[in-house]
Amino acid sequence: MLNFLKENEKQWVENVYRKLESKIEKECGRIGEKIPYIAENGRYRNDMGESNIAWWTNGFWGGLLWQLYHAAGKPLYMQKAVQVEERLDRALNGYENLDHDVGFMWMPTAVANYRLTGNHDSLVRGLHAANILAGRFNLRGNYIRAWNGDRTGWMIVDCLMNLSLLYWAAEETKDPRFDVIAERHADTVLEKILRPDGSCNHIAILNPMTGELEALPAGQGFAEGSAWSRGQAWAVYGFAISYAHTKEQKYLDAAKRAAHFFIAGAALTGYLPLCDFRAPEVPVYYDSTAGACAVCGLLEIAKHVPELEKALYEQSALKMLMAMEERFCNWNEEEDGILGMGKAAYHEEGEERQVPIIYGDYFFAEAVLRLMEKDFFIW
Ligand code: GLY
Repeated sequence: MLNFLKENEKQWVENVYRKLESKIEKECGRIGEKIPYIAENGRYRNDMGESNIAWWTNGFWGGLLWQLYHAAGKPLYMQKAVQVEERLDRALNGYENLDHDVGFMWMPTAVANYRLTGNHDSLVRGLHAANILAGRFNLRGNYIRAWNGDRTGWMIVDCLMNLSLLYWAAEETKDPRFDVIAERHADTVLEKILRPDGSCNHIAILNPMTGELEALPAGQGFAEGSAWSRGQAWAVYGFAISYAHTKEQKYLDAAKRAAHFFIAGAALTGYLPLCDFRAPEVPVYYDSTAGACAVCGLLEIAKHVPELEKALYEQSALKMLMAMEERFCNWNEEEDGILGMGKAAYHEEGEERQVPIIYGDYFFAEAVLRLMEKDFFIW
C-alpha cells in the first residue's frame, strides 16, 4: 500500500479491491468473448468486435484483465485478455479505419501481454501499431494527425496517452526516432493545446503544410474556450507519462499545471468532476471517466515530485476516488459496469446519458491497484 494512506483508508482500498475483483470475475462469465464498451441497463449487450472492431476503446477490457491478472494471478483473466488481443487483429490487418488511438488499443492488450509473458506475436502487434502511429506524424507541423478523412491538420490532446506506444517502441527497438516523434508531438501540445492557466483545448487544427494554427474548436467539450474534463485528464496523465519516459522537466511542469486546474475544478463539486469545468451551471453533467483517469495521473505525478509536494496530488487523488466510489459505483455483481456516470461527450445523442464506460472501469481499477502498489504500468 502507498505509505501516505491512513489505516482506515487502507481498509477502504482493500475492500474496494475485493469487490472489484469479484465483480470482474462475474463479468468475465457474462461477457464471454465480447469486447465491451458502454453498459446500458446493467448489461454490456453490444459486442464492439462485431459492431466496430477499430473503435478506440477496444483495448480497455483487455487492459483491465491484464491488470487483474498481474494483481491476482488468475489464468481466467489472461485467457480473456488474449481473446481480445487476437480479435483486434482484424482491425490491425484491416488498417483503413485505424487512427492515432492505436496506443489506446494495443498498449493495454498486445504490449501488456508482451511485457508480462514475452509472447512474440504480441511484440509484433505492438510494433506494427507503433509504426502506424509514427507514420501519422506531420513533419511540417510537428504533430501526430488524430483522425482520418480530410482532417489532415487535426491534432487532439488525447493523443498524449498514445505516445506511450512510441516510447515503448523506442525502448524495444533501440531506435530513437520513435522517442523524437513522441516528444515533438508533446511539445506541440504544450505550445498549442495547453493554455497558460492549465486548462486545455480538445482539438487544434493546424495547416498541414505550414503547421500554422487555424482553429481551436470545442470538440467533445461544451464550447470553444471551455475545459472538457476528460481532455484535461488526458493532459494530466499524458504529460506525466511523457515525463516518466523522458525525464524532461517541462512535461512534469505541464502535468502539474493541468493537474492544478483539474483539482480546482473538481473541488467545486465535491471531487466529482463535471464533464466540462466551464459549462453552464445547469444541466449538471458529470464525467467519472475523467475523474478516474485524472486520479491515475495525479498518482503518477506524485511519484516524481519532491516529498513536500506529494500531498496535493495524493490527497486530491484519494478524495476523488473515494467520492466517486461512494456516489457512482455499482457493486451489484448481477449487473455489468462498475463506475457509473461516465459521459462520452458533452453534446451527444441522448444528451443526458450518464453511463458506465469501459475506460472508466479500467482507470478506476488502475487507480485502486496503484494505491495498493499492485498495478502494472501499462503506459
Ligand atoms: N479519445 C476520445 C475520448 O476521450 O473520448
